[in-house]
Amino acid sequence: MSPLPPLEVPSEVAAFFLNVYTETHWETLRQQLACPPTTTYFRVIVPLSYRPDLDFTSAVRERRNEILPELQSKIDKHCISRNWDTGQYKVLCHSMLDDVLYLPVLENFNIEKPEKEVMIDTSAGTAVLRGADIFAPGILAAESDTHVDNTVAIMVDMDKKCLRGRSKRFDGRKIHVGNGILKQSRQAIFSKKPSELSGDGVIMTDPIYKTCGIPQGMNDQLFLQNITSTLASALLEVGMDHKVLDMCASPGGKSIHIASMCRGFGCVIALDKNKYKIDRILKNAQIYQVEKKVRAYICDSTNLEGDSKPDEFKGLPGQGLASESFDRIMLDPPCTGLGQRPVFGTTSEVQKVNSFRTAQPAYQKRLMTQAVRLLKVGGIMVYSTCTLNPHENEEVIADCLSRYPNMQLIDPEVKIGGPGLLNYGLNAEDCERVQRFDPTTHPETVGFFIAKLCRTS
Ligand SMILES: C[S@@+](CC[C@H](N)C(=O)[O-])C[C@H]1O[C@@H](n2cnc3c(N)ncnc32)[C@H](O)[C@@H]1O
Repeated sequence: MSPLPPLEVPSEVAAFFLNVYTETHWETLRQQLACPPTTTYFRVIVPLSYRPDLDFTSAVRERRNEILPELQSKIDKHCISRNWDTGQYKVLCHSMLDDVLYLPVLENFNIEKPEKEVMIDTSAGTAVLRGADIFAPGILAAESDTHVDNTVAIMVDMDKKCLRGRSKRFDGRKIHVGNGILKQSRQAIFSKKPSELSGDGVIMTDPIYKTCGIPQGMNDQLFLQNITSTLASALLEVGMDHKVLDMCASPGGKSIHIASMCRGFGCVIALDKNKYKIDRILKNAQIYQVEKKVRAYICDSTNLEGDSKPDEFKGLPGQGLASESFDRIMLDPPCTGLGQRPVFGTTSEVQKVNSFRTAQPAYQKRLMTQAVRLLKVGGIMVYSTCTLNPHENEEVIADCLSRYPNMQLIDPEVKIGGPGLLNYGLNAEDCERVQRFDPTTHPETVGFFIAKLCRTS
């Protein structure tokens, strides 16, 4: 049994979901959302300059086979340095997605808690649960007699109540997420602002969930991406010359994956709402060496009416896009996120019930209107969310099918998720065409939903 408390939601949100799920299902889901997925997935990065003579699929396989031995050797070293059994952390190739490598996440609940405590914030806590060490800026407090190289208990401040630099034991609500070795002194950490700090503050020798992130020196070769997101981009079946639109693109995980498939004349137009978000996409495109194929613009994708062809489009104020402009469209809209895991849930962080019931679904339907208009006849669209709310998933797709008889759900060639929920407008056949990743049946990944559609006329 995981020591993590189940996700907390306000009572009206719980009542809303008890209309969707049985009580047992909802309770298991809340527990699962608090815990990390049971698998760590890496996507192999394929820069455009890598083997330009090969098509994307062949380049991916070649690159994966090159990277695998280095990755395994670095993971073995990581395990040895922490006294973990290397035999338990063998990197495997996914049988259905060529660019996916994966490792297990193993439970490690029977650890003794050392005397000294170090407090961290919830975002550092989430990273620890997914296999990371703790960067110095994530450390909130350490008791006054803690020193470099001490073994310390890592405690997450659940309610954001622990003041930075506190030297007495914090007695608010806290969760033990494992033990580690302190690598920077209190003085070094708390005499500076978090933004002035760098490097590891704690090396996690005994986290309650043991796995490995991307080893040092491999950050431009691998991307930590939930398999659900990798699958969503893969299902777009992007050809080397396709014009692709990613309507809600930041930070750019999917755009970058898609850009690496555009090995000919194709490109991705990546839109998001503000400059900071566009800068993130462009920065990521550079890191992963696909910048030549990503054109990112600040745009409100609910309002794209216009007559520019993709090649002319520059995201200028008032400029819009002509109908039937794109071969492929990715619509990964903002959503309530009730699928993200692990989450240190507190009532202040979860959404209002109105977001689940009306606000988000209405917004997603407006984005869908533009997506359908911009898709070429014969073109493919993938719609995905990281929420388990059927009003943002099955219902948005059912609404699209009823408003646009020229849109059809199509069978995905890679099916990993379970069927959609009945009672939200999709018939039984169409429920089999969508993919729902519910952590109670898919503990290996986050909660997610994917639908693949095509425009027939
Ligand atoms: C789920 S995230 C997208 C994640 C992204 N697809 C990826 O894989 O990295 C949703 C994004 O939609 C953006 N967004 C929200 N409303 C938008 C709008 N009207 N037009 C464009 N982008 C929007 C948000 O800023 C946010 O970055």
